[in-house]
Order: sequence, then C-alpha cells, then structure tokens
Amino acid sequence: MVLLTHIEYSVIIKRMNNLLPDYPIRDITISVENIEIQLTIIEEPDQFLDKLSREDSDSSLYLPYWVYLWGSAIGLAQHIARLDNSLSGKKVLDIGCGFGLTGIVASQLGANVVFTDFEHDALLFAKYNAQQNGVESATFIQMDWNATCFQSIFDVILASDVIYEEQNWKPIIELLQKLLTKNGVAIFSEPNRNNAGGFFRSLRENGFIFEKTTCNILVDQKTTAINIYTIKRE
Ligand SMILES: C[S@@+](CC[C@H](N)C(=O)[O-])C[C@H]1O[C@@H](n2cnc3c(N)ncnc32)[C@H](O)[C@@H]1O
Repeated sequence: MVLLTHIEYSVIIKRMNNLLPDYPIRDITISVENIEIQLTIIEEPDQFLDKLSREDSDSSLYLPYWVYLWGSAIGLAQHIARLDNSLSGKKVLDIGCGFGLTGIVASQLGANVVFTDFEHDALLFAKYNAQQNGVESATFIQMDWNATCFQSIFDVILASDVIYEEQNWKPIIELLQKLLTKNGVAIFSEPNRNNAGGFFRSLRENGFIFEKTTCNILVDQKTTAINIYTIKRE
C-alpha cells in the first residue's frame, strides 16, 4: 500500500524560477516504501486536456495525457522501490515519463536514468521534479516512440501507462527490441485497461516473455489496483 499525502495544496500560478512552463501548479509529496518524493504537478489538469488537444494530420485526435499524474506511475514507483538494490548502477530508460515520478525513484535507488517523453513541457516538469529531489546526474530527452534516437542500449526500461492506444504498440515493441540489452528487463505498469491484453499478446509474438503482478495504491483515500509486468527477451 502506498501513501499519497498532499502536504501542500496551494494553487500557485507562477513560473518557478523560469524552469517550469506557465501552468497552475500544486506541490504534492508521494511516499513509496521509505522514499519521499516532492512533485510539482498541474493543478486541475482537466482544462488542459481540452485546451491542448489537437487533430493530427491523419485526422486522429491527440490528447495530452501527460498533464495528469497517473496511478500507474505511483504503482511502478512503489514496485521498483521494493526491488532492493537491483537498479543500483543500472542504465535506465523511462519512456513517456510525464512528471518523472518513476525515473526519480529509480535515480534515488542509484540508477542512471534517461527520462524521455515526446512532450517538451512534460520533460520540463520531469527535470524540475528531478532537481527538487536532488537527482544530480540524469538526462532528459524529447523522444517519440516512433523515432528512437539512441545509439546506446539500456539494462532497464520503465514505462507507466503507455500502452493505452493500439497505434503505439508496434513502436513500443520495436523500441524494446532495439533499446533493451540482451539480458535487460522492461517493467511496465497499467491500470487494467480493457485493451492491455492485446499488447501483451503482441509482445509475446515478438519474442518477449513476461510476469504479471498487481499492486495496490492509495490515492485520495481510494485504493486502485495497478498491474505490473516484468518483461524479458525469450
Ligand atoms: C498516460 S501518460 C503517462 C505519463 C506517466 N508515465 C504517468 O504514468 O504518470 C502517457 C505519456 O506518454 C507520453 N507519450 C504519448 N505518446 C508518446 C509517443 N509517441 N512518444 C513518446 N511519448 C509519448 C505522453 O506525453 C505522456 O507523458
């Protein structure tokens, strides 16, 4: 069980030292195991879902889901915090990092983390949040799953709530094939969405195996089950 406390709930509209883009923000504290993370997130993100949505060139509707902190990020953060020392010294890639929670916990556990998202503003929040939690050596890269930009490969790939749209499955699986070391591990979390099974079937067809566990998180006095998948090459 994870405890989410809002120690500060003041709605502040400001640019913090010009490091953050201009959104109404609030500060929260998230406790996973014995790690406390300070996070600055967007206050009342619903309004931005409309404002920042757009129709892409192929007429599909794009929704900026990065404006929310998803329960899957808390679930994945909790899961990796329980992995003892297994992330220490590892090269970790966080894909679709949003506000950066899971990458920050991985950094606290001694990993060298590369935070990625294709949304520039999400990366600014992730960077700000990493800094306010004392993360000293991390990298922040704007990257689309459809156009990976790394020469290097990673021991661990973290992904919370990124498989919700079927169009992303193929690029994400190709990304795993390209960027995970031979004996590497990818850890995905998702909140039991209806279509998740399709992604994991496809993953298996493409040479990966996985184990599934479930963890419970407590947010605003509501318990939610988050699925955690530990993925390896066959
Ligand atoms: C549902 S949010 C999850 C955010 C964060 N991981 C969490 O759990 O709070 C999905 C994230 O993936 C990012 N994303 C969506 N499509 C992407 C793509 N094609 N390439 C890279 N990032 C993408 C979004 O900007 C967003 O931050």
